[in-house]
Amino acid sequence: MSSLLLLPRHGGRALSVIAGLRSTDALSGVHSTARRFIVDMSYSAHFMDFKGSSIPSSMRKLVVNKLSPNFREAVSMQSVAVPTPGDADLLVRNRFVGINASDINYSAGRYDPSVKPPFDAGFEGIGEVVGLGLSASSRYTVGDTVAYFGSGAFAEYTVVPAKESVPVPAVKPEFLTLLVSGATAYIALKRLGDLAKGETVLVTAAAGGTGQFAVQFAKQAGCHVIGTCSSDEKAGFLKSIGCDRPINYKTEDLAKTLRKEYPKGVDVVYESVGGSIFELAVNSLANKGRLIVIGFISGYQSASGIPPLKGGTLPVKLLQRSASVRGFFLPHFISDYREALGSMMQLYAKGKLVCEVDGGDLAQEGRFTGLESVFRAVDYMYDGKNLGKVVVDVAPPSVSSSKL
Ligand SMILES: NC(=O)c1ccc[n+]([C@@H]2O[C@H](COP(=O)([O-])OP(=O)(O)OC[C@H]3O[C@@H](n4cnc5c(N)ncnc54)[C@H](OP(=O)(O)O)[C@@H]3O)[C@@H](O)[C@H]2O)c1
Repeated sequence: MSSLLLLPRHGGRALSVIAGLRSTDALSGVHSTARRFIVDMSYSAHFMDFKGSSIPSSMRKLVVNKLSPNFREAVSMQSVAVPTPGDADLLVRNRFVGINASDINYSAGRYDPSVKPPFDAGFEGIGEVVGLGLSASSRYTVGDTVAYFGSGAFAEYTVVPAKESVPVPAVKPEFLTLLVSGATAYIALKRLGDLAKGETVLVTAAAGGTGQFAVQFAKQAGCHVIGTCSSDEKAGFLKSIGCDRPINYKTEDLAKTLRKEYPKGVDVVYESVGGSIFELAVNSLANKGRLIVIGFISGYQSASGIPPLKGGTLPVKLLQRSASVRGFFLPHFISDYREALGSMMQLYAKGKLVCEVDGGDLAQEGRFTGLESVFRAVDYMYDGKNLGKVVVDVAPPSVSSSKL
């Protein structure tokens, strides 16, 4: 039987809800002494997980102290008390956290300019519930495995509102790839792509976190898929996930190749790079083509965050082809999120979706292990080295630990 704990730390009054009471039991239990114990555990300085191992009193997390797109300049590691989950929250012991191109937009304060440092970094994690509030215990219990898309993931422990977390069958990094990267591709193509069988789709940064999913979903829709990337190894990977025409732009001239091989243009572009690649993609649109702006990574490291764009002729080009440019930002499509995740998880379970993870095994200093390797992992992405989703193993299991 599990012990669900809501403990103010270090000697505050504590509630311990004993036994596996869930759902309405857990919610009503506060008033029903006949059905559950509420034990004063104020002597305890620790949360306890269901295996009885202790949660340390302090942990490490990454904090943005200064606004800058230079992640190393903006962010530092801090030791802080392990936070206490609120009534509707989970305390998650992070096992894997995901790196996103926008981690440096976030550290530069571009998401919400009203938020001033210090603030926590990291968008997504997956791990084990080790503590939770009473209301949260209606849906979760200690020991559950969950993934979440929310702020403050670059930490050893993160408090996550239970309603923003997703139960996952196991703590596998593959599930982490779906939270932001997979969901972005799934929802953007579904809502804005208007894909029809036989159409041609161009995916930029195709071998990366979100690009790999765009390639696969476009293939599943019966399209011919072109994917850009920067190495032959990535081109080989793209072939393996069904991309019809990987283009390594380091060895092939992208503009010439598109003009020569696709003279009628491409119907849809899933565009993540921006700047000159955006311009090239606009020039490559077919009549009634749709370009989805997913990002513009080529500008993120600059002071403005925006890559230079000529763009003055954009209205002419769009009009002449009845083409359109459509922006997509995942938080605006949260109503599609659960369906997207459920559907992708099913595809993965059936072996119909590749969720490629790059844990840094081939990185210069080796695998991304421990919170401190988030810095290396961000550099690695911006060096264009990653193949698949960049994931950091925050807390690899010790020899003595059991299931993770
Ligand atoms: N709109 C949304 O809601 C949303 C959500 C998630 C992600 N995104 C966007 O999706 C894009 C990809 O993000 P991700 O997290 O999945 O990253 P990723 O694709 O896993 O990694 C970035 C890739 O972009 C290319 N790249 C890196 N630095 C570059 C630079 N300076 N100039 C040009 N290309 C560069 C590299 O691929 P190659 O070397 O192979 O070209 C690199 O592997 C980003 O633009 C991001 O902002 C948007």
